[in-house]
Amino acid sequence: MDRFQLDPTITYLNHGTVGAPPKVVTEYQRRLQDQIELQPAQFLLRDLADFEANGNPARPHMRVAAEATADFVGCDPDLFGFVDNATTGASAVLRSFPFEAGDEILITDLGYGGVNNAAEYVAKRAGATVRECVMPSPGAPVDDFVTAAIDALAPNTRLFMIDHIAAHTALTLPIERIVQACRERGVVTLVDGAHVPGAIPLDVEAVGADFYVANLHKWLFTPRSCGFVATTPEWASSLHPTVISWGYGNGVAAEFDLVGTRDPSPMLTTPKAIEIWKQWGGDEIIAYNHDIVWRGAHILADLWGSTFQTPEEMVGPMVFVPLPDVFQTRSTDEVALRAELWHDDRIEVPIYWHKGVLGVRVSAQIYVDDTDIAFLADAINDRRPS
Ligand SMILES: Cc1ncc(COP(=O)(O)O)c(C=O)c1O
Repeated sequence: MDRFQLDPTITYLNHGTVGAPPKVVTEYQRRLQDQIELQPAQFLLRDLADFEANGNPARPHMRVAAEATADFVGCDPDLFGFVDNATTGASAVLRSFPFEAGDEILITDLGYGGVNNAAEYVAKRAGATVRECVMPSPGAPVDDFVTAAIDALAPNTRLFMIDHIAAHTALTLPIERIVQACRERGVVTLVDGAHVPGAIPLDVEAVGADFYVANLHKWLFTPRSCGFVATTPEWASSLHPTVISWGYGNGVAAEFDLVGTRDPSPMLTTPKAIEIWKQWGGDEIIAYNHDIVWRGAHILADLWGSTFQTPEEMVGPMVFVPLPDVFQTRSTDEVALRAELWHDDRIEVPIYWHKGVLGVRVSAQIYVDDTDIAFLADAINDRRPS
């Protein structure tokens, strides 16, 4: 815990929601901000981005960071742009996509409300529609998720927006198989990987989606706000940031690297964040976080008498575990329960309803261990309504 700024007196089981960068990374970011202030016009106007795509400057700061990050996530840096967050990335894709009247945008009932709203917005403007595909409940075999996704595709489905790791249920979906099936049927894919970089191994090109958006500030130790959008050569010239600026028409790098005056330090910190993440274990962090929540889910379910059947391959560094049966009634006030855990026990953990099941979403990070899970188990058991 001392490597993070988190209050050491709290039990933080919600790394997934907005991340928590290590101290060494935020210190690096502050040094970078100080460097910017020595000569802000030079740094932010002349050295930051090659928005005219004419080789000037030769090594723009944003490209140096983009190259390191694109290499880490497995995509071509020329088809990679930084964005503030996954929501911004999804909006950029949806708002620049050439939808036509009668087109359908398919989403799933596992999707994140904020980005679903962007789909509604663009559909309304284009005379298109949005339809929600019903996915199986957590605990179903992984093949059922592939079947549900494929069966939901309709002749007018133009674009399928689907999570790689779903928000509330924390399920890791078999995304390569779903993307492949869409490709065979001519359906464009937008994969929301908000939780993916640093959480599970990622190779964007191997996923094969037309568009992939993600956050780096959740699991990859970067400061907020920092995410990316990646695309393919086919779509590169039609993808634009939601904020249009000087790079318009000059390619993904030129357009996304400069979107007006802002603080670029979160993006420029990514090479350092990746270095620290690797130095502290990299794949071992992924394995540690997975083990904590995989083991933890079974411990919680045992102690609570609830059922946890999610296949291991669908579990990354977060897990959704049903609360004890006595809480599974609409009279349970989940907002009050969450607030009680926070105020009385200083436990930060989200509690959600999903398909009629009330559960906690537990996130692991290297500052979490088995005692935190045991503490949560007791805190819930102590609150069982009599
Ligand atoms: C699947 C998914 N998409 C998008 C988001 C939004 O992330 P951000 O607010 O960083 O854009 C989240 C947030 O948790 C998420 O879980």
